[in-house]
Amino acid sequence: MQKLDQVYEGKAKKVFRTDDPELFIVDYKDDATALDGLKKGTIAGKGAINNQMTNRLMARMERAGIPTHFVRELSPRETLVKRVEIVPLEVIVRNISAGHFASRYGVEEGIVFDQPTIEFSYKNDDLHDPLLNSYHAIALKLATPAEIELIKRYAFAVNDVLKAFWAACGVTLVDFKLEFGKTADGTIVLADEISPDTCRLWDSETHEKLDKDRFRRDMGGVEDAYTEIMKRLLDHDAE
Ligand code: TMP
Ligand code: ASP
Repeated sequence: MQKLDQVYEGKAKKVFRTDDPELFIVDYKDDATALDGLKKGTIAGKGAINNQMTNRLMARMERAGIPTHFVRELSPRETLVKRVEIVPLEVIVRNISAGHFASRYGVEEGIVFDQPTIEFSYKNDDLHDPLLNSYHAIALKLATPAEIELIKRYAFAVNDVLKAFWAACGVTLVDFKLEFGKTADGTIVLADEISPDTCRLWDSETHEKLDKDRFRRDMGGVEDAYTEIMKRLLDHDAE
């Protein structure tokens, strides 16, 4: 598989064309941003961890019947994926109050919900990713009603798989963000990444944060948290 020209560079990943028009290569960086891109930094080793964690979790999703863009890991930081057109929605599922949910609604962090919530943001940096509901997404033609229903179903299914997996690793899944894409034939698949950048993960016993909140909130121990969460995943995957 030949890596050709770069088609896109995001905050944490680069995407390259290949000699197959339906396949792209994703290359994970150590760069980290937060606060709408205002805070910038590097988390040493993050690219390799996020790449390998995402791939193992995507493979789990496939086994659970949730289609994904994942094809094959090429190197510690690089993965072959299906070419998709990203649906410009950030799909956020929450099991426990934290982050913007806590600040927006004026509640403390750590309230366990009776059932998970779902919300959408319009993926648009110029507009700062505004929150929108499914009617707005349909009005803006970001997705069709059927696609929105499918995305919701997949997002809750991802939550079930992910929550159970992390629980077995001694980790509580607080919330996470997903992105979906459309393949050439119009199939909706899970895309982007599932990593400590895009999930809140707390140690089940101590509630210690093992995710990017340590970077967002200047808590220190960022690299150690990424290393620890990857170790938990690998220990459990090996069982
Ligand atoms: P929030 O509480 O800031 O809305 O974040 C909810 C979840 O989504 C959290 O696990 C972090 C993740 N997230 C991203 O992956 N990218 C983003 O740009 C934002 C705002 C959140
Ligand atoms: N990466 C996002 C940004 O730079 C936000 C975040 O993950 O907190 O805005």
